[in-house]
Amino acid sequence: MTVSEIIKKHGNERENLLAILHQIQAGNDDNSLHKDQLQQLAEIMDIPVADIVSTASFYTMFSLKPRGKHIIRLCESPPCYIMGEENILTALENCLKIKLGETTADKMFTLETTSCLGACGVAPVMMIDDTVYGELTEEKTVAVIKSIVDKE
Ligand code: FES
Repeated sequence: MTVSEIIKKHGNERENLLAILHQIQAGNDDNSLHKDQLQQLAEIMDIPVADIVSTASFYTMFSLKPRGKHIIRLCESPPCYIMGEENILTALENCLKIKLGETTADKMFTLETTSCLGACGVAPVMMIDDTVYGELTEEKTVAVIKSIVDKE
């Protein structure tokens, strides 16, 4: 879908900006928002491009930098931290051979942290794309990554 088609679908009002940004990003293979798309959006919606960029920068769900096909968000809020989030982070970094904030060489995964995902009862927790994985151990975490790689 083009930027103008997405705007038409949601409506040209400013309160629809987040939904529009979300759909634009979801349509990009690199899970990010592209500069030319933001400029087009600014023109069509008659909003200064600086406002759109600051909105996109404010929310962690958006990225202005290219990311992997799958976004891993590991919860780092206190309940998950206490339950061993740091060990899960190390397992992810070792398994993916990247550090926090980086994208794998094959552009398959980007590793990020997030605040509470609302699943503290099953801490430690990570979300990959739209799926939440709880009660993580190092072994379970690696198995989740492997199962995603196997499906590709
Ligand atoms: S603190 Fe991690 S899900 Fe709530």
